[in-house]
Amino acid sequence: MAREFTSVGVVGLGTMGAGIVEVFARNGIDVVAVEISAAAVERGRATLTGSTDRAVAKGKLAEADRDALLARIDWQVGLDALHSVDLVIEAVPEHLDLKQRIFAELDRVCKPEAILATNTSSLSVTEISVATTRPNQVIGIHFFNPAPVMKLVEVVRTVVTSADVVADVEALCARLGKVDVTISDRAGFIANALLFGYLNHAVGLFESRYATREDIDAAMKLGCGLPMGPLALMDLIGLDTAYEILDTMYRRGGRDRRHAPVPLIKQMVTAGLLGRKSGRGFYTYERPGSPVVVPDEHTPVSTGAALADGARAIAKVGVVGSGTMATGIIEVFAKAGYEVISVTRGAEKSAKVCEAVKTSLNKGVVRGKLSEDDRDAALGRVTWSATLDHLADVDLVVEAVVEELSVKKALFASLDEICKPGVVLATTTSSLPVIDVAMATQRPADVIGLHFFNPAPIMPLVEIVRTIRTSAETAATARAVCAGLGKTGVVCGDRSGFIVNALLFPYLNDAVKMLEASYSTADDIDHAMKLGCGYPMGPFELLDVVGLDVSLAIQRELYLELREPGFAPAPLLEHLVTAGYLGRKSGRGFRDHTKR
Ligand SMILES: NC(=O)c1ccc[n+]([C@@H]2O[C@H](COP(=O)([O-])OP(=O)(O)OC[C@H]3O[C@@H](n4cnc5c(N)ncnc54)[C@H](O)[C@@H]3O)[C@@H](O)[C@H]2O)c1
Repeated sequence: MAREFTSVGVVGLGTMGAGIVEVFARNGIDVVAVEISAAAVERGRATLTGSTDRAVAKGKLAEADRDALLARIDWQVGLDALHSVDLVIEAVPEHLDLKQRIFAELDRVCKPEAILATNTSSLSVTEISVATTRPNQVIGIHFFNPAPVMKLVEVVRTVVTSADVVADVEALCARLGKVDVTISDRAGFIANALLFGYLNHAVGLFESRYATREDIDAAMKLGCGLPMGPLALMDLIGLDTAYEILDTMYRRGGRDRRHAPVPLIKQMVTAGLLGRKSGRGFYTYERPGSPVVVPDEHTPVSTGAALADGARAIAKVGVVGSGTMATGIIEVFAKAGYEVISVTRGAEKSAKVCEAVKTSLNKGVVRGKLSEDDRDAALGRVTWSATLDHLADVDLVVEAVVEELSVKKALFASLDEICKPGVVLATTTSSLPVIDVAMATQRPADVIGLHFFNPAPIMPLVEIVRTIRTSAETAATARAVCAGLGKTGVVCGDRSGFIVNALLFPYLNDAVKMLEASYSTADDIDHAMKLGCGYPMGPFELLDVVGLDVSLAIQRELYLELREPGFAPAPLLEHLVTAGYLGRKSGRGFRDHTKR
C-alpha cells in the first residue's frame, strides 16, 4: 500500500516553492512552508495569497476553500520546523553546494522515514542525495511553472532511490491531480533538456538584433501555437534560475555550446533584471511579481507609424503560382479587399486554383464566417491569367512557385523586366536565401520575403524577411500589408529558418536524439512537452504531421548554414526517412497511423 502523506515541508518559497505549497494545501495536505528569513516568508505568503485571491476572483476557488487552504499552511523560518513531516520538497536557488548543505541539514532534522525531494531542474539528484545518510530516500520531484497550473511532474529516480519511494511519490502525484513521468537522473530531465536549448537560442537571436522581443515571441506563439513566446517564458522562469539551469546543463550535458548561456542573460542577472519577479526582464511589468506587461522604451509603435515610415500604397497585388500556398494567399488578399491578379503557367492550372479558392471561400460561408455577398465580392476581385505581362501595373507581387532557386531567380528576373518601378517584389520561400532572389533583379531594395504559414487563410503569422539590400520603405510596406491582411507580421533577417523554423526544428531534432538515446519514450516525451510546457502537440506528434522528410530537409539546411554541431540531424530521423517512414502522409512515422 502506498504511504500516506499527511504533512509535507517545502523549503524555499520563491517562484516555484510558493506554487508547490499551494498545490499541496489545495489537495488537503498540511504544509510546513520554510524560508530563510521572516521577510522571505512574507514574500512567499504574499505570492500564495495573490494566487489564491486571483483564483477566488475568477470563480475557480470558493472563499471557504481558500480559507481552509491557507489554514493548512504553517509558515516558518529555518529547517528545524520540519522535524515531523513525511516528505520535504526543496525549492531553493539552483546551486549544488546550497542544495547539498540543505539536504545534509534536512537529514539531521527530519524523521528517519521522511522522503527528501528536490525540485531541481538541472542539478544531479544523485549528487544532492549523497549529502545525506539516506540517499535511497532522496528523489527528484520536478514541478513546472506555474506549479498550480501545469499538470506535469517529472519524478527523477537515481540509481539508489528505492523502488518503494518511487512508487509512493508516483501515487502522491496522482493524488495531487498531476501526471508524472518517471525518468533517470540526467541534466534537464525531459522537458528542460528540450526547452532550454530553444530558449537560449531565442535569447541569442534577440541579442544579435535578428528580431525584436515582440516579434520573436509573436512568431513562436502564432506560428507554433505555444502558450508564450520564449522571452516572456524566460521572464516567467526567472533569468537567474534560467542562467543556472543553462550553466549546469552545459557542464553536465556534454558541453553542448547551445547550452552555454548567451552573455546577455548574465548581464541582465547582474543588472537585477530577473524577469517578472523583479518587475523587469526582457519586458517591463507593472510591479515585481506581476504578470502584467507595461510599455517601455522598447515597445514598438503602432502600424500607423509604419505608414509614416514611407510605406507605399498597395491596391493591386499579383500572386504567382498554383500550389497550396498561392491558392491560400490569393484568398487572403481578395478577402482583405485587394484587387488580385493570379498568374499560373496555363489556363488549366488557373481553373484549378480558381476552383480551390471558391471551395475554400464556400467553406467559410457554410461555417458562417463569411457572407455570400462577401464571398462573391472576394471572387470578383480576382482575375486569372497565364502570363506575367499582366503584372505590369500591380503594386505588389507575391511569388509562391516551386521551392527551387533557379526557378525563383528566373521568375524575379522576368518580373524585373515587366513590373513598373516602385513595386514591392515578395517571395514566400521558406528555406532559400531571399538575397539570392533579390540579386536576380536590378532592384534588390524592393525585394523582400513574405513567409506565410500553411494554411494561409487561417494562420495569423507572416514572417517578413529583410535582406541586407531591402529598403526601409519596402519593409514598412510589407508591415502595412500584413496589417491590412489582419495578420501579424514579424520582421527578421535573411537567415536559414527565419524565426519559427530556426527555433522549432532543432528542438524537434533534440527530441529525436533523446528518443534515440533511449532516455524516454515518444509518449512520455510528448506528454512532458504538452503537460509541462503547454505545447499544443508533442514533438513526435508534430514531426509526424509536418513530415519527417520535410523536417529533415529543414534541419539539414539549418545545419549547413549555421555549422552548429548540435544542429546535425539525428541519425534516427535520417534512417526513418530512408526507410520511407515519413509520418502521417506515408501511414507511418514515429507512430503507426494505419491502425485507428
Ligand atoms: N523557475 C522555474 O520556472 C522553475 C521550474 C521548475 C523547477 N525550478 C527549480 O526550482 C528551484 C527554485 O527555483 P525558483 O525559480 O523558485 O527560485 P527563486 O529564486 O524564485 O526562489 C528561491 C527561494 O529560496 C529561498 N532560499 C534560499 N536559501 C534558502 C535556505 N537556505 N532555506 C530556505 N529558503 C532558501 C530564497 O529566499 C528564495 O525565496 C530551483 O532548483 C529551480 O531550478 C524552477
